[in-house]
Amino acid sequence: MDLLKRPRRLRTGAAMRRLVRETSIGVDDLIYPVFIVEGKGIRNEIPSMPGIYQLSIDNFLAELDEVQGYGIPGVLLFGVPDVKDEAGSGAYDSNGLVQRALRAARPKFPGLLLMADVCLCEYTSHGHCGLIQDGRVLNDVSVDLIARAAVSYAEAGADIIAPSDMMDGRIGVVRRELDQRGFSDIVIMAYSAKYASSFYGPFRDAARSKPAFGDRKTYQMDYANRNEALREVKLDIEEGADLVMVKPALAYLDVIHEVSSRFQVPVAAYNVSGEYAMIKAAAQNGWLDERGAVLEAVTAIKRAGAKIIITYFAKQIAGWLQMKCEG
Ligand code: PBG
Repeated sequence: MDLLKRPRRLRTGAAMRRLVRETSIGVDDLIYPVFIVEGKGIRNEIPSMPGIYQLSIDNFLAELDEVQGYGIPGVLLFGVPDVKDEAGSGAYDSNGLVQRALRAARPKFPGLLLMADVCLCEYTSHGHCGLIQDGRVLNDVSVDLIARAAVSYAEAGADIIAPSDMMDGRIGVVRRELDQRGFSDIVIMAYSAKYASSFYGPFRDAARSKPAFGDRKTYQMDYANRNEALREVKLDIEEGADLVMVKPALAYLDVIHEVSSRFQVPVAAYNVSGEYAMIKAAAQNGWLDERGAVLEAVTAIKRAGAKIIITYFAKQIAGWLQMKCEG
């Protein structure tokens, strides 16, 4: 044995490990997703996402107080309307649910980043992310509606627009429409490499957005592909994306790594509902240690190259960080 080679020296105690730690998670990295519903005083726990609630606008404002108290920089808003139609008109109604939530929150929380997910699937009766004709999801007419939704969220006070529909060319159209209306400071966070994933299951319970027929594989990406992710990211940056996202996160660390090495824009990763549910379920059964598993998972996402981590664990992580826990 060569006794000169002793890597364990740097692991002898917590202070030493802290000193040589290459990656650390901070509250600045986190974004907390929220689900908004109609009504007053509503706080419905989502069965497949323990600890996460559908909130009416009044309770959403209370939630923002808490998020701000933790020092989390921002939230990502999803609307879950009561009424849905073929054209997903609630998404681009200037008096829609998310638009009202943004208008209520904007003056009260000037320092918090309000991000609006832009998609039609929460608003369409068929649950697809675009308009349907003869069983097919149409691209260009859907993009026009996505851009209308984006403008209406900007008008209502959003700081960041996050198109999650995966239609071709939508980032360019959204950028142009925002700029033409004087919203050139509004940031676009593109869901660029969004895979058709089984890990979105609990989200679709929360958003009541499961497709009524077929699946999302004609617009979301095949999980077997990595080069395709690089093409999607490249196009979105060329079209004007300020931030690009890889989604889901944990099964796609290679994609996060490659995107962040090749492109110079900040990379976001979405630690999605199914990833949350798996850890929660195992922890509730006493099968793994929740804090340890969560900190390990989000540190891995950061280590892979993501700067921004969108996670349902954001408040818990912020709480643990305040306690200065070792992961
Ligand atoms: C809407 C959208 C989805 C998610 C974010 N935006 C669902 C989907 O594409 O089916 C999933 C987020 C999660 O699972 O946490 N298009």
